[in-house]
Amino acid sequence: MDPETRRAWLEVVSGNDYDQHMAAIGQAQVNASLVCQMLGDHPLAPGARLLFVGCGTGQTLDFADLDELRRFTITFSDINPEFLAKLEGRRRRHGLEALVVQDDLTSTQLAKRFDAVVTVLVLEHIDWKVGVDTILGYGPRYLHFIIQQQEPQAAELSLDRELPPSIREFKSVARPRLLSRADLQSYLEKRGVSLARVYERPVPDAKTMVGLVFVPQSRRGDTLAPRELSDFEHLRYSPISRATRSG
Ligand SMILES: C[S@@+](CC[C@H](N)C(=O)[O-])C[C@H]1O[C@@H](n2cnc3c(N)ncnc32)[C@H](O)[C@@H]1O
Repeated sequence: MDPETRRAWLEVVSGNDYDQHMAAIGQAQVNASLVCQMLGDHPLAPGARLLFVGCGTGQTLDFADLDELRRFTITFSDINPEFLAKLEGRRRRHGLEALVVQDDLTSTQLAKRFDAVVTVLVLEHIDWKVGVDTILGYGPRYLHFIIQQQEPQAAELSLDRELPPSIREFKSVARPRLLSRADLQSYLEKRGVSLARVYERPVPDAKTMVGLVFVPQSRRGDTLAPRELSDFEHLRYSPISRATRSG
């Protein structure tokens, strides 16, 4: 993983700026509804274990169909404690039961199995093959990804936008790398994981949110036993103060 990109997520981007930016570019709303559709189209038993990796501030909860989510036993994970604190507040306000844990997708401490893993706009910011291997290690029956595709003019259109200060700084220091659908599919196919469905949702600035659902061949037709939230209790997030935040 590029160290500057990691530092930018940990020390540069503020949760408020991130939320404001994602709503302004329409991606927060589109991704929330797309995640719910992807989950609804690939149903699991009530209580199935659902993990959101790189979940950010939980802005999704403001736009998602929460009834779709309440059917699951949910865990949210991210590296950024400020984002997780915002998510925890949202989760409480929405009355959504879930565990919130601080975890790095490229060196996970989450030694648990999940029935489905949702990864929205995260692989672009990490060593994606390591992240995908981590996700496979959770043993999911469904892997839900949203990645971003963009037309050649997208970068210029984005430059015209007024950006919140920490997002502007992020763009000057971080080096996210778009991941192609073909590369992700080919990597997963070599690991016996097939592409089940593709979704495309255009968003402003000549970009498209691409939803991809993958199914490990070995998990086709499995039935799943629900788990209790208490199985994950030892991982619960506890706020950490950060003395080094700039700005
Ligand atoms: C573009 S944001 C997407 C956030 C959220 N999924 C959404 O759609 O709003 C990328 C997220 O990945 C998180 N992230 C970056 N590196 C990570 C890592 N190594 N492990 C876990 N999360 C990471 C960041 O903190 C940030 O919340």
